[in-house]
Amino acid sequence: MAITLKDEIAQVARVAHEELSLVQDSNALEQIRVHFIGRHGKINELMGLLKSASLEEKRECGPSLNQLKQEIEKALVDKQLFFEQALSNSEIERASLFDVTAYRHESLQGSRHVYTQIIEQLEDIFISMGYEIATGPELETDYHNFTALNIPLHHPARDMQDTFWMHLPHMLLRTQTSSVQVRAMETKGAPIALFAPGRVYRNEQVDASHSFMFTQGEGLVVDKNISVGNLIATIKAFLRIIFEKKDLQIRVRPGYFPFVEPGLEIDASCPFCSSGCSVCKKTGWIELMGSGLVHPEVLRMSGIDPAVYSGFAFGFGIERLAMIKYGINDIRLFHSSSIDFLKQF
Ligand code: PHE
Repeated sequence: MAITLKDEIAQVARVAHEELSLVQDSNALEQIRVHFIGRHGKINELMGLLKSASLEEKRECGPSLNQLKQEIEKALVDKQLFFEQALSNSEIERASLFDVTAYRHESLQGSRHVYTQIIEQLEDIFISMGYEIATGPELETDYHNFTALNIPLHHPARDMQDTFWMHLPHMLLRTQTSSVQVRAMETKGAPIALFAPGRVYRNEQVDASHSFMFTQGEGLVVDKNISVGNLIATIKAFLRIIFEKKDLQIRVRPGYFPFVEPGLEIDASCPFCSSGCSVCKKTGWIELMGSGLVHPEVLRMSGIDPAVYSGFAFGFGIERLAMIKYGINDIRLFHSSSIDFLKQF
C-alpha cells in the first residue's frame, strides 16, 4: 500500500516531537530547526507535496501540516527559553560558590635569597655613606688579580690563595675582589670610595666553612689624609648596622696582605654574648676581615700619586658575615636550593 501524505505528516510529526523532547542544548536545537522548518526542511518538502495532491487530500492534510509547523515553532521557542534560563541559573550558582572573603590557608610565597638580602643591605649602608657600588669581571687577568696588587710573578704570596688558572694566557678566576680596586683606580683615579660585592673562586676542598666559590665584599677609599682612624670608624659603623648592635667593638691585629701597609686583621666583639659562647668559641671575638692602608706601590701602579693620596681597603666573606648574623652552620647551604633553608629568610 502506497504511503499517503497523511502518513508522511504523521511520521514527520512523530520524529519532530521525539527529537524536541530529547534535545539537550541550543546547538542541537538549531539543527532541529533547520531540519524541520528550514527553507529546505521537512515541512517545506511536505508543503511541496501538498501542492500536487488531490483536492480531498489538500482539505484533509493542509490544516494538520500547518498545525504541525506551528507546534514545532512553539516547541523551538520554549526549548530555547528553557536553555537560556538554565544557563543563567548555573551562572548564579557558580557565582554563589565563589567566596571572595575566603581565607586561603598557607599560601606559598617566595622570598629573596639570603645572599641577595645581605648584599642589598650592605650596598644600602655603603651608598648611605657616599660610596659607589663597583663590579669587575670574574674571569680576570693575572695583572689585576695579582701583579697590580703588589704580588709580582713568582712572589710566594701568589700561593696564599689557590688559584683556578685558565687555559688562556694570564687569565684566571679571580681569587679576591681586590681586583676591582685596581680596575676602579685605573679608570676613575682619586678621590674614590667604592664597595664591590662579588663572587671569587679558590681551588679549595669544600667543607662546612670552605667553598671553591664564595662572595666577598670589598671596600676602598682613596683621598687626601686617609688614615687607619677612618678605616676603623668605617668598619665599626657598618658592622654595628649589620649586627644591629650599637656597642659592637672591633679589635685590630697585624696581618699580612701584600697590597696594604700596614696590613690589619679585624675582629668584632661577639654580637651574641659578653663572656664567650659557641659562635665566638668562648673568646668573645670573631675574626671578620682583612684590611689596611693601600700600599703606596699599589696606588702608584694604578696611576695615583701616593705623595698626594692615601687610602684604606678591606675585604670580607659575605657568606661568613651572613652565617654569623643568622646562625647558619654550613656554607654549602647557600647553594643547596633547600626550601627548608631558604624559607627561613
Ligand atoms: N683580598 C683579601 C683576601 O681575599 C682581603 C683584603 C682586602 C685584605 C682588602 C686587605 C685589604 O683575603
